[in-house]
Amino acid sequence: MGAHHTTREEHPWPAIVMHWLHLVSMAVLIYTGFYIHRPFGPGTMDQMRTLHFVFMFVLILVAIVRVYWAFLGGGSAAPGSRRKVADWRHFGRSPENKGQALETVKYYLFLRKTHPRTAKYNTLQKGTYMFWLLLIALQAVTGFAIWSNTAAFFEPLTYLVGGHIVMRMWHYIIMWLFIITTAVHIYLSVAEGVRQLPLIFAGVESGEKDPDSRPASA
Ligand code: HEM
Ligand code: HEM
Repeated sequence: MGAHHTTREEHPWPAIVMHWLHLVSMAVLIYTGFYIHRPFGPGTMDQMRTLHFVFMFVLILVAIVRVYWAFLGGGSAAPGSRRKVADWRHFGRSPENKGQALETVKYYLFLRKTHPRTAKYNTLQKGTYMFWLLLIALQAVTGFAIWSNTAAFFEPLTYLVGGHIVMRMWHYIIMWLFIITTAVHIYLSVAEGVRQLPLIFAGVESGEKDPDSRPASA
């Protein structure tokens, strides 16, 4: 990865706010989800279910707004740049990512020394972020299907998958997919994107880290 200066335009404030909301709602949904699955520690089932119901709406709403913002928001910039383009462009196919997935995997497995050149996000990041949208949609469907208030609407689907218990099991399995992929996201963002951390969490730009090069002038 290039030792460029990070810019606020890479992750403008709406992206930062939404990233926080996603992080907090995922943490609460996973914690309360485990509790609902099998109670532990302090708190009551009523409290945990209430929290789960509040944050499931936060998660879904933020995901919708995030997609809306990607297309119709103020845009975001490529690394090191202050020039904003429509944010969705960073998540789509781009010539810079061609043939990169395998090379990135090799790099992560220590089979190659240098990070392959990439667009703002590498192919695996793009894939992960799109996969999460799919998982959020699946959690919404399986979740509303087991929620007594909305279960009736999903009855045909519940019947199709093999009943309420099976639907619940899928909701639980998908949580694990979230946990595994988020663990990778956190690990890689610390191992590979540590300079991005102050930016994505607080909008703080990090300076030039490469001792051989001049301070950024922008
Ligand atoms: C402790 C937890 C987390 C850490 C340390 C973290 C860190 C980061 C970092 C450093 C980036 C910027 C990557 C880059 O610019 O190359 C990023 C982007 C992103 N993260 Fe996280 N993240 C965390 C949790 C989450 C969670 C729970 C979600 C979603 C459910 C999430 C979704 C995203 C998405 C969609 C992006 C793409 C950029 C954007 O939306 O602005 N992250 N994360
Ligand atoms: C996105 C919208 C979501 C909806 C509508 C939803 C809804 C629900 C409902 C209605 C229950 C059953 C509560 C009860 O019977 O008392 C439940 C349980 C659960 N939820 Fe969610 N939820 C959502 C998201 C999530 C997410 C993102 C996770 C974790 C990543 C999660 C993890 C769990 C777990 C583990 C359980 C317990 C399932 C079991 O008993 O095995 N949920 N959820």
